[in-house]
Amino acid sequence: MAHQILVTGGAGYIGSHTTLALLEAGFEVIVLDNLCNSSAESLRRVKLICGKAPTFIHGDIRDRILIDKVFAENKISAVLHFAGLKAVGESVREPLDYYDNNVTGSVTLCQAMSQAGVYTLVFSSSATVYGEPLQMPISEEFPTGVPTNPYGRSKLMVEELLQDLAKSDPRWSIALLRYFNPVGAHPSGMIGEDPNGLPNNLLPYVSQVAIGKLKELSVFGDDYPTQDGTGVRDYIHVQDLAEGHMSALRAIVQKTGVDIWNLGTGTGYSVLEMIRAFEKASDRTVAYQVVERRSGDIAECWADPSKAAHELEWKAKNSLEAMMNDTWRWQVNNPNGYVND
Ligand code: NAD
Ligand code: WQD
Repeated sequence: MAHQILVTGGAGYIGSHTTLALLEAGFEVIVLDNLCNSSAESLRRVKLICGKAPTFIHGDIRDRILIDKVFAENKISAVLHFAGLKAVGESVREPLDYYDNNVTGSVTLCQAMSQAGVYTLVFSSSATVYGEPLQMPISEEFPTGVPTNPYGRSKLMVEELLQDLAKSDPRWSIALLRYFNPVGAHPSGMIGEDPNGLPNNLLPYVSQVAIGKLKELSVFGDDYPTQDGTGVRDYIHVQDLAEGHMSALRAIVQKTGVDIWNLGTGTGYSVLEMIRAFEKASDRTVAYQVVERRSGDIAECWADPSKAAHELEWKAKNSLEAMMNDTWRWQVNNPNGYVND
């Protein structure tokens, strides 16, 4: 029988692309998602793309009885854990929701895994755990910093609790994948990022301005010490992230302990460079105006991805142009995301 992989949050943006990659590689996939920030339509689209569907369980990672049942009724060998809340501003307003979903949810999941004897886990962490590093590029040896918001703190707490767990029991094999800035969509234009309401992140916002759903982008500050004064980030195509998960999974099934890998490209682009690249891909103008800096933002952030290159034989392959073209294709084909109205 094929290996069964449990993907929590598998109906979401990064989870759906990774679910597709797993199915294409011949894994059997069980998706557990409470659909609080996604639609099961993403998984129907996954099936349209590859002809295979994951088993979908509509449920919550905090529901211990349900998770115990999922492990008891299946032969799961590893868990890819994407489920969680991710909106920085909302986390400031509703911190308890963030600690409950992200931290309590991860604790409950690990308790159920331990009881079921499943010790292989890939966790969706974030470059936000580095706080504001003094130099670039950021390598995994850098100390973790002080995240500026409850979302970031919840990610760091989960990293730390997973480190403690692995120290307490040598059977655990855990990958902490620190994503930089995920963007893009599957090249088919059938699955992509479907933000709820006003987008928080740059590229979904730019894309909705280009298609005319939003009037103009606010560029948060042009007085940073960067090449053009706007913030610089390491944007990585979601397809490369999906491949990175497969590589991490292959690596950790052969060993135990905790491994940390940055998933980034190693190249930073400014907000203005992103706008220009999107204008080129979409052949539209992206109206913007420069406003005050957004509180909590750092000037620049990009990865040293060499550890993943050496240890996982993984490298981000998609260019900035591909990130933009694929985002635009998804936007044009799905002006209202997964809801067809
Ligand atoms: P997403 O919101 O699209 O996906 C998360 C999924 O988890 C959603 O489908 C949501 O319905 C589900 N979910 C949330 N809480 C749940 C719960 N308690 N039980 C079951 N399902 C639950 O977000 P994404 O961009 O795909 O992010 C996936 C993971 O990667 C998250 O953990 C996020 O923190 C992390 N991450 C994201 C980014 C980013 O910029 N997108 C960057 C770094 C890390
Ligand atoms: C990118 C750049 C903004 C929106 C966040 C989280 C991080 C991770 C990824 C999950 C910055 C500028 C943005 C806009 C703008 N998420 N910007 N106008 O802030 O790097 O990271 O998402 O783990 O934890 O903090 O991403 O896309 O919000 O911003 O000028 O309307 O675009 O100032 O320079 P960020 P982002």
